[in-house]
Amino acid sequence: MPSPDRPFFTLTVVTSADGYIARARDDAPQQWASAEEQALFFADVAAADWAIMGRHTHEAADRPDRHRIVLSSRVCGWRRPTQLWLDPDGISPRDLPDLVASRRPLRNGLILGGTRVHDWFLAHAAIDRVHLTVEPAIFGAGLPLFTGTAGQLPGPVLEAAGFRCLKERRLNTAGTVWSCWCR
Ligand SMILES: NC(=O)c1ccc[n+]([C@@H]2O[C@H](COP(=O)([O-])OP(=O)(O)OC[C@H]3O[C@@H](n4cnc5c(N)ncnc54)[C@H](OP(=O)(O)O)[C@@H]3O)[C@@H](O)[C@H]2O)c1
Repeated sequence: MPSPDRPFFTLTVVTSADGYIARARDDAPQQWASAEEQALFFADVAAADWAIMGRHTHEAADRPDRHRIVLSSRVCGWRRPTQLWLDPDGISPRDLPDLVASRRPLRNGLILGGTRVHDWFLAHAAIDRVHLTVEPAIFGAGLPLFTGTAGQLPGPVLEAAGFRCLKERRLNTAGTVWSCWCR
């Protein structure tokens, strides 16, 4: 749970049943995720101080009103009062609160993807909680949850990464399933 001493990072992600977060770079979840998933997603967004995402995810839906840290190896610095662009090379997710403190405290961070953003947080053991929604769709190919996990089911991928499922519930009659994972 959130502590005053360090940020708490939640990874919120929706995957196909075969574990893909998107069929291609421009395949936003709102094109294929259920209404129930989208409602939970926006609740997570509302609960967070800052969202952290890669450049493609940001550019797919720029929201100047939302506080975002956008990872990019090409662009760095404040582009708006609400948007810090950052090259994560050589820093850790736990450095982020100091970098944004002048604009807004970062206590609850939301990890929004894509794959390399997930990788960066995982490599630093900085994913405190995962909200995973699995939609009953098979993509067959696409962007994986983490690099090197293409074609693997999302639950076993999270277990292999050291997470355990705390709770799980079905969201609709189509078979969409939401679950919460922690270390
Ligand atoms: N299903 C879901 O829950 C979910 C979640 C998020 C996104 N998506 C979808 O996934 C697709 C985009 O994912 P993506 O994996 O292609 O892109 P992405 O992570 O959004 O963006 C990739 C870009 O972000 C920068 N970046 C990310 N991680 C970095 C790192 N560790 N170090 C340096 N730069 C880094 C790089 O930008 P530069 O090229 O500027 O260096 C990289 O080219 C979209 O369709 C999006 O809607 C789905």
